[in-house]
Amino acid sequence: MPGLWALAAAAVAAVASAAVTPPIFPYPRQYGVHRLGPGERIVVDGFLNETAWDAVPWSEDFVDIDAGPVPRFRTRYKARWEGNNLYIGYWLEEPQVWANLTVDDSIVFHDNDAEIFIDPDGSCAWYKELEVNALATWWQLILDKPYIDGGSAKYGPGKWVMPRFEAATQVFGCEINDPSSGPCSHWTLEMLLPLESYVVNETVARSPPVPGDLWRWDFSRVEWRVSDVGNKFEKVPGVAAANWVWSAQHAINMHLPERWGYLCWLDDKVNVSTCRTDVTWNARQALAAVYYAQHQFSAVNGYFSATLSDLGLPPSVLNGQLGTQPPVLIVDPLSPYGFAANVSATVGGQTFVGSINTQRHFTFDPPGAAVCGLGGC
Ligand SMILES: *[C@@H]1O[C@H](CO)[C@@H](O)[C@H](O)[C@H]1NC(C)=O
Ligand SMILES: *[C@@H]1O[C@H](CO)[C@@H](O)[C@H](O)[C@H]1NC(C)=O
Ligand SMILES: *[C@@H]1O[C@H](CO)[C@@H](O)[C@H](O)[C@H]1NC(C)=O
Ligand SMILES: *[C@@H]1O[C@H](CO)[C@@H](O)[C@H](O)[C@H]1NC(C)=O
Ligand SMILES: *[C@@H]1O[C@H](CO)[C@@H](O)[C@H](O)[C@H]1NC(C)=O
Repeated sequence: MPGLWALAAAAVAAVASAAVTPPIFPYPRQYGVHRLGPGERIVVDGFLNETAWDAVPWSEDFVDIDAGPVPRFRTRYKARWEGNNLYIGYWLEEPQVWANLTVDDSIVFHDNDAEIFIDPDGSCAWYKELEVNALATWWQLILDKPYIDGGSAKYGPGKWVMPRFEAATQVFGCEINDPSSGPCSHWTLEMLLPLESYVVNETVARSPPVPGDLWRWDFSRVEWRVSDVGNKFEKVPGVAAANWVWSAQHAINMHLPERWGYLCWLDDKVNVSTCRTDVTWNARQALAAVYYAQHQFSAVNGYFSATLSDLGLPPSVLNGQLGTQPPVLIVDPLSPYGFAANVSATVGGQTFVGSINTQRHFTFDPPGAAVCGLGGC
């Protein structure tokens, strides 16, 4: 739902004058994706009835994107992988299943949809977005950076289409687009995501992944209020769509990739292998705090600050409570418009440095610190 970026930009501007202290978020949701075991196979037909699906747990139920009311309908997913294939089984409770868009590469969030956002490196750069409706019509996008950082989305033939992508849907309890046939119970969306497309322009994330690797991802569902007007559904005028997500964004904006949850790659030992956590999480919080504080400062003053104490950072960023050293600000002497910040931390005797720049781009030294751990990739 790229259109919502404007809302978030307005929120950032409103925050600037109030000089709100940038938030430090707790570790987000994380889902362990198991490789298929010997003999396990998934056919992308929309039916989640393979034993490969039965063997693994559902994700947590989705929540409102920004601490709004509990979603009216349940949403959850499962995932598996094998080689360069990531399989997703999406389950969406829905009494009124409808979809109007039938041409791929259209703006699918104008319909109810199921969305997946993936940022393999956790850099906030070159992330991929996918939106699919109940007719399995899709929209695939690649973004160099978030919209509010000046990013632009590419999609369509010659720009961004993922070869080998497969999607299929099934509707349960009714016929799609037929109010007289319901009420429906839910729809399902089964997909094959080609991982070689997901690692395009990434620096350390690899395809196939290696068990233990951590990527960033989140899931989002756009849900419009519709009424039954006889032989079809129509949107209720003047009501904005709801956004229900797997890992809460704490803002009405999916295009803040630093807030997404984690995809944890695991081997085929279901219920045995467990996920590690990203050692860079707290450093990421400190870096994001500097990023948000600098943009607030700049909105008021017209330039970025070279002085940490001007930024109104949360005490935990400065006092070591996050397990990180205080940030080092680097303001480009040739340009009043650019900054970078470094944060270092020592975990288990090993030190790493994280950096963020004006455009929310996160990097780490060693480069694989987030994706592969401090041992590197
Ligand atoms: C899943 O259900 C569909 C529809 O009933 C059926 O065609 C397919 O063979 C089933 N697949 C498996 C693996 O049971
Ligand atoms: C994993 O645990 C869940 C919940 O206890 C169970 O339903 C599932 O069958 C288990 N899977 C395997 C492969 O043991
Ligand atoms: C990958 O990055 C390069 C360099 O910025 C860019 O030219 C290219 O278009 C990007 N690839 C895609 C698929 O967007
Ligand atoms: C679907 O398309 C039809 C035909 O354009 C339109 O009348 C209807 O309002 C649309 N339904 C929704 C829910 O947008
Ligand atoms: C910031 O960190 C990068 C490595 O991540 C390093 O190359 C650079 O020298 C650091 N800058 C400062 C001022 O610490």
